[in-house]
Amino acid sequence: MAALLMALLLVVATAASASPIRRVDVIRLPSSSLSSSASAPPSFREAPAFRNGEECPPRGSPEGRVDIAMTLDANYLRGTVAAVFSILQHTACPESVAFHFLVAGAPPRRGPGPGPGTAADDDPLAAIRATFPYLDPSVHRFDPSRVRGRISRSVRHALDQPLNYARIYLADTLPAGVRRVLYLDSDVVVVDDVRKLWSVDLGDRHVVAAPEYCHANFTKYFTDAFWSDAGLRAAFRGRRPCYFNTGVMVMDVARWRRGGYTRRVEEWMAVQKRKRIYHLGSLPPFLLVLAGDIKPVDHRWNQHGLGGDNMEGRCRNLHPGPVSLLHWSGKGKPWLRLDSRKPCTVDYLWAPYDLYKAAATALEE
Ligand SMILES: *[C@@H]1O[C@H](CO)[C@@H](O)[C@H](O)[C@H]1NC(C)=O
Repeated sequence: MAALLMALLLVVATAASASPIRRVDVIRLPSSSLSSSASAPPSFREAPAFRNGEECPPRGSPEGRVDIAMTLDANYLRGTVAAVFSILQHTACPESVAFHFLVAGAPPRRGPGPGPGTAADDDPLAAIRATFPYLDPSVHRFDPSRVRGRISRSVRHALDQPLNYARIYLADTLPAGVRRVLYLDSDVVVVDDVRKLWSVDLGDRHVVAAPEYCHANFTKYFTDAFWSDAGLRAAFRGRRPCYFNTGVMVMDVARWRRGGYTRRVEEWMAVQKRKRIYHLGSLPPFLLVLAGDIKPVDHRWNQHGLGGDNMEGRCRNLHPGPVSLLHWSGKGKPWLRLDSRKPCTVDYLWAPYDLYKAAATALEE
């Protein structure tokens, strides 16, 4: 460590005596690990190459492919990296998993010259590529202006980000070859073979599959203004609505498209704009359209709420039973709580998937 520091100082000193331009060139690389400057890019350890076993379909073949969609932005990057790492580590056929990252930004302009997407927008993607050099993810731009006028303020500001609504537009955003997709939030880790969840039987009519919680108090997701309006309440006529979490869901993209579900969710967002009928962001309109109509999946596939409530992010325990997927939904995020040195017990289950290499410790290794 001391020797390395000496060597670096020597490099800097040598460079300083040369021309100023050369000095900048020489110290650029070590400076990101020497200084704790806020502009230093986050760095992650490189993940090993996970390879398909013999029983797997050949790499790149559409047969046997598992399509997974996640949003990608700088704020949740550390969570995204951990989620991807956990998925690759626990699936039998890691090279058959196709990741689709949704990034905020207008579609690139045609023609010469740089488009409106700036280099900074692409940073999280650069980090993903550097951390998983064998992955070859696809990236799809989600235009925030599609949803900006439709968002109404929720109880937690983080829920109001346009990218949080991208899951409503999956059917328009993903390439036509994707017939079924698993959508995952960035605050999950998967500790089982993700293919089991992805290949759930949707029957001949279900559009979405997810764990369902029929004992949760469904009433509280909507306001009195909603329940006291017979016309609105009628949305649930003929089904027994149960809460489900849209942070982990399998979607039949073709059925979603055919059924016009994007428009149906948008219509409820328009109602919310006129008259406050719920408190949260993108979840309640999904419930209005799909609750009671989804294919239920075993609860082991979404141990949700580990981030605590939406107000304070208190510590929570695991739900009873087996665990295939852990989900830090709620305000508390494991990377923030670990960094603050006040982690919850469940955060230690996330830590082994954390590839983040804090700038300050980069030199100590
Ligand atoms: C469910 O939530 C509503 C609204 O918050 C509340 O009025 C009602 O008492 C709750 N029901 C039960 C069974 O807890």
